[in-house]
Amino acid sequence: MQPVLDYLKQNQPRFLAELCDYLRFASVSAQPQHQKDLLACAEWLVAHCRQIGLDARLCATDGHPIVIAKTKRGEKSKKPHFMVYGHYDVQPPEPLELWTTPPLEPRLAGRNLFARGSTDNKGQNFAHLKAVEAHLKTGTPLPCDLTFVLEGEEEVGSKSLSGFLKQNRRELNCDAVVISDTGMPSPKHPALTYALRGIIAFEITVHGPSRDLHSGIFGGAVENPAMALAQMLAKVRDNQGFIQIPGFYEDVDPMSRLERKEGRRFPMKDSQLKELLGVTQLFGEHGFTPTEQRSARPTFEINGLTSGYQGEGSKTIVPAWARAKITCRLVPNQNPAHIRKIVCDYLKEICPPTVRLEISAGHGAEAYHVSPTGPQAQAALRALEKAFGTKPILIREGGSIPIVNEFKKILGADSLLLGIGLPDDNAHSPNEKFNLDNFENGQRMSAYLWQELAA
Ligand code: BES
Ligand code: MN
Repeated sequence: MQPVLDYLKQNQPRFLAELCDYLRFASVSAQPQHQKDLLACAEWLVAHCRQIGLDARLCATDGHPIVIAKTKRGEKSKKPHFMVYGHYDVQPPEPLELWTTPPLEPRLAGRNLFARGSTDNKGQNFAHLKAVEAHLKTGTPLPCDLTFVLEGEEEVGSKSLSGFLKQNRRELNCDAVVISDTGMPSPKHPALTYALRGIIAFEITVHGPSRDLHSGIFGGAVENPAMALAQMLAKVRDNQGFIQIPGFYEDVDPMSRLERKEGRRFPMKDSQLKELLGVTQLFGEHGFTPTEQRSARPTFEINGLTSGYQGEGSKTIVPAWARAKITCRLVPNQNPAHIRKIVCDYLKEICPPTVRLEISAGHGAEAYHVSPTGPQAQAALRALEKAFGTKPILIREGGSIPIVNEFKKILGADSLLLGIGLPDDNAHSPNEKFNLDNFENGQRMSAYLWQELAA
């Protein structure tokens, strides 16, 4: 292992320059005008993987391409086989004016590298590539076979990947999937994430008059769709934070006393969280801690709300329609299809007859939960401890990685979630960044991991 560790140590400046190249691609999967940039980014990855000694290819899909890169192996390799999953697509960088410097021009400030996609997820998956490079370039044999699966549609629901898994089941069959696309509470608290929330996404549109109307001439005699939508949304949650949709909590797995006790060890004080989020008060379901509220409890969240005139100055209209983009986060044992149905039923029930309701369904995925006591989880914990030099903790996280469920169903493989993002990395926000100490420790974690997992 020493040559691998030395190689990593000696090559950080080059790794940083390469990561900056990776970050310059505008691989924004949600925006159709960036299709070419996603392709270019995937092609760059293929070339880079070949350069470090992997067998790599680009796999076209109906959406954005998937990059597959494998260690060279004999036909009948008996070594364990692990998959490293990551995504090269990024969230839209808007609003641009809130970035200190342009999101696609990586900027180093101290040990923080600022750019869209730096922590979510390019920096994190690049750490794994660099660890493999260190093995291949120093002639250090890997104790396992590795396949990298880097997709370009994670931020839009991984539509192509599950079909791809089914088609390539034999090739992708593996002992576990390793994913660094989550976080750790602080640089001193490396963590293994053993649960993620699921998600359902949808849009509700409330239609009123056939066109925007003069609010002086007609206002008062016709329903205002924005008001109708606002009143409906207000009926979804009570002032204690609880969702009012009948049956919403019915299947929620209660947390055990032990788990709640463990959760209280999460090293972030309420005051720190407030400071981090820029709020003077936290808000969530009464009787649950903020850590529980944002990782182990389901939510109904308005992600976007649009109606009427948004430009400068005033425009006196009754808008023709109003729309909300919604996602619910789900926890283990909640069924996405069922929750989608009861949410729709409730919205239909509370929609006034003065407007027409339209609901369109988006992506959905169930929550993920894996026992942190198994041998693979223990191996991961040892690798974390060696790399970060301090005892790792076990955490649940509130974000979603829908494809982990497919890894389990289609490939039978558990996912080891070894995130190296930090709470202040601004994932999905302006001024996203990635911490270079975590980048370096992440590379070492990856290197140790293969030894520990294969042992
Ligand atoms: N890396 C995140 C998921 C994540 C973040 C998990 C923090 C745990 C902690 C991922 O890129 C992401 O943003 N996923 C989306 C999924 C959605 C688009 C289906 C999410 O959670 O909103
Ligand atoms: Mn993300």
